[in-house]
Amino acid sequence: MASFKTIAWAGDAVLLIDQRKLPAEETMLACRSAEEVARAIEQMVVRGAPAIGVTAAMGIALGAKQIATEEPEAFTRAFEALCARMAATRPTAVNLFWAIDRMKARLRREAGSAIAEIRRALEEEALAIHEEDVAVCRALGREGAALVPDVARILTHCNAGALATGGYGTALGVVRAAVEAGKRVEVISCETRPFLQGARLTVWELQKEGIPVTLITDSMAGHLMQRGEIDLVVVGADRVAASGDVANKIGTYALAVLARTHRIPFYVAAPLSTIDLKTRTGSDIPIESRDPREVTQVAGRQIAPEGTRALHPAFDVTPARYVSGIITEAGVATAPLRAALARLLRRDRPR
Ligand code: MRU
Repeated sequence: MASFKTIAWAGDAVLLIDQRKLPAEETMLACRSAEEVARAIEQMVVRGAPAIGVTAAMGIALGAKQIATEEPEAFTRAFEALCARMAATRPTAVNLFWAIDRMKARLRREAGSAIAEIRRALEEEALAIHEEDVAVCRALGREGAALVPDVARILTHCNAGALATGGYGTALGVVRAAVEAGKRVEVISCETRPFLQGARLTVWELQKEGIPVTLITDSMAGHLMQRGEIDLVVVGADRVAASGDVANKIGTYALAVLARTHRIPFYVAAPLSTIDLKTRTGSDIPIESRDPREVTQVAGRQIAPEGTRALHPAFDVTPARYVSGIITEAGVATAPLRAALARLLRRDRPR
């Protein structure tokens, strides 16, 4: 488990480590309403698919406490509005919608209970989502660690660590578990332009754990692969379609193509909650477009000429054929991915 808290429930607030300020400042931001939680997700105070899901669930639980009615129909209407607000924060990470659906399902199960009881149940559900995420990432980490050689240089992109989840990580969960298993692992972290999650967050998180990490710019990955300096790639995912196509941070697709060219295994570490069988293929995944100023500026400072036209697709899609395996808490899915993913999800469903 990480030595810091990404997300915490304070009863009257959701506490988030402010990831915009890392690594310079380690501060917790208290969000005291569902609206403040929604803005924190939009502004990337908290980011990473599982972490967004956990935070949204807590935001809904917090908002439900503040709904000023004891009348069931009015309460349900206000609850639905809270869910809609959370759903509008970021479009790509399916864990957000998965967590919202769980909160909705819990409300349905509590139908007929007193409003005070419903509020308590929603809080319980949000806390369970958080707790389960940590357990799931630990299990996923163990599955992935088995794929890591005893001595390995692992390339990763963005931050799929404790900062991106309830507190253990997916891609970095695999790294943590490999280290716990006594393997000698070194991480090569792509800086991940434009928001620099790799440089700012992955390096910070791994340094805190004492796991060796070396930073590269995104454009250096091909060079290192060509020289035989990368043993495997492990990244996270924001959404995996039924076909096995994977949406993840912009730049992931290029890494997958490079890895294939150099015969380097390319693994995606993702909990089952990131697999979305309702999305048929990668082209059906909504790709978030963010403010181009995140491209023309670095840390708020303009680096391109004033008036520069810039694009900012925040994610890309890696076709299933480039993926060596999808590491989940229920096992590793390999080609053909469509059938393997369907099998893993069927096995996981409560009977
Ligand atoms: O824009 P971000 O920082 O939310 O993007 C995060 C990623 O792309 C992660 O790789 C993904 O969400 C998996 S996090 C375990």
